Amino acid sequence: MTSPDLAEHPFDLSSQPGAEWWRTAVIYQIYPRSFADSSGDGIGDLPGVTAHLDDLVDLGVDALWLSPFQRSPQKDAGYDVADYCDVDPLFGTLADFDTMLAAAHGRGIRVIVDLVPNHSSDQHAWFQAALAAGPGSRERARYLFRDGKGVHGELPPNNWDSVFGGPAWTRVPASDQATVDATPGQWYLHLFDTSQPDFDWSNEEVREEFRRILRFWLDRGVDGFRVDVAHGLVKDSALPDYTPPTDADALGGGEENVPYWGQDGVHDVYRDWHRVLAEYDGDRALCAEAWLPTIEQTALWVRPDEMHQAFNFAYLETKWDAAPLRAVIDESLRAYGAVGAPSTWVLSNHDVVRHASRLALTEENPQGHGIGPLSPGKPIPDVGLRRARAASTVMLALPGSAYIFQGEELGLPEAVDLPDEARQDPTWFRTAGERYGRDGCRVPVPWSATEPAYGFSPTGASWLPQPASWANLARDRQIGDGASTLSLYTTLLAGRRTHRLGAGRLEWIETHEPGILAFRNGNVTVVANIGSAAIPLPHGSVIATSGPITDGMLPVDTAVWLENGAA
Ligand code: GLC
Repeated sequence: MTSPDLAEHPFDLSSQPGAEWWRTAVIYQIYPRSFADSSGDGIGDLPGVTAHLDDLVDLGVDALWLSPFQRSPQKDAGYDVADYCDVDPLFGTLADFDTMLAAAHGRGIRVIVDLVPNHSSDQHAWFQAALAAGPGSRERARYLFRDGKGVHGELPPNNWDSVFGGPAWTRVPASDQATVDATPGQWYLHLFDTSQPDFDWSNEEVREEFRRILRFWLDRGVDGFRVDVAHGLVKDSALPDYTPPTDADALGGGEENVPYWGQDGVHDVYRDWHRVLAEYDGDRALCAEAWLPTIEQTALWVRPDEMHQAFNFAYLETKWDAAPLRAVIDESLRAYGAVGAPSTWVLSNHDVVRHASRLALTEENPQGHGIGPLSPGKPIPDVGLRRARAASTVMLALPGSAYIFQGEELGLPEAVDLPDEARQDPTWFRTAGERYGRDGCRVPVPWSATEPAYGFSPTGASWLPQPASWANLARDRQIGDGASTLSLYTTLLAGRRTHRLGAGRLEWIETHEPGILAFRNGNVTVVANIGSAAIPLPHGSVIATSGPITDGMLPVDTAVWLENGAA
């Protein structure tokens, strides 16, 4: 593929306060290892992304977010970065990245990349140097090394557990020559896997290094960053003990005053980064992955001098029920609006059960736990898909910016029946199989029903097995089928653009019927039936419907967009 001439870059690179692209964009999450494999090794790659950009143009997205593709031993699917300024050979080269970026920009698609600042890989040169250098060194001060408790330092510095299960501290040998001198030494903190040591963000050297990393990618032309674990960088310096409730979401979110989430000092980091991005043209943006107890608190991450967007996990976690949905939408528009930021909307990503399954779960399922063959309350696929289509129809009509996760436009469910031996999420290993983890939402995308690996890879290899039932969900089966989920998403995204819904204003319509969610955004009326019986379809011409409408009735678990409608 030839790269489009950057001189024909379609963006207006001048800054337009109040009209920046990220305020209204539909951003498509690419999980590179599962998107499209061009090399045939069973792991998706950057040339695979480039090859499918036209499909994303057809779908109608405004921007892409790529999960990590930087150099990494892949202990946590790339969220363990060994070199922040290079591409892992699994995914290609820096030249492949530049080609992909130019090709996306040439098609009017923005690109944001993942930045993982809370921790590096244990294979990062800095961590290796820290192990070698020993206690009290400048090298160790970049991470959180501490002496242990107990007479011989045999106990960890505090009682924290890792997000993936097991202790958050690992003890290292006293010297780098472990085989010669294996005397146990200090402990290091890893909120995630042992292979993901946490940086010490009170260290100016760490801050300076990340400014350099930001500039490295900004200079290459990226439009921004999705910031991993943006609520975790700064820890309470006293490192006090903390025990979360047993049913807590893995990444936090439900609890107040956690000594490693949402500490005040973290905001200085993002103010600093805001200034770095402001040195560049073209409205570059930062999006926070911050799991916090309230929307009000999350809005602190997007104050005018900090980040630009934050994922709306409160929305993602809201049950399929009209009253709580209305409440969370109201609160989102209010709280983000109060700080001058757009709300974002999201239903699926690579860390949660896909919404085509999650919305039909009949048992609680905390974030990160996942579902598998033995999970209680497994979803009924048809119910899940019907609700997912309706939920997406509601979401894509909301003002602000929306995130969609690769494969949700095909209606992919969670792959529930993955064999144990295929699983790769560290959560699965660190909890000895007690939690299935997140592999079920990460299964490679089916492109073509009759090709090996459904067209994901030319050799038929696939790093996680794809369910046999996915032939029917393959993209090529859905193209041209007006009733397919792909057609629904394409219609919704086109309608969102035509009617400028991202930049619109939401006005509730009172129906006084329980289970009905109805609102207007400009000249589009949205009605979702989340009740228990079909209701008469309100007047107006149908722009999009999430499911069949029969005899003028809007069935349960169905949502519709009407033009000039009146509910
Ligand atoms: C974020 C990522 C998740 C990863 C974790 C550790 O939550 O989304 O996939 O495992 O951070 O980096």
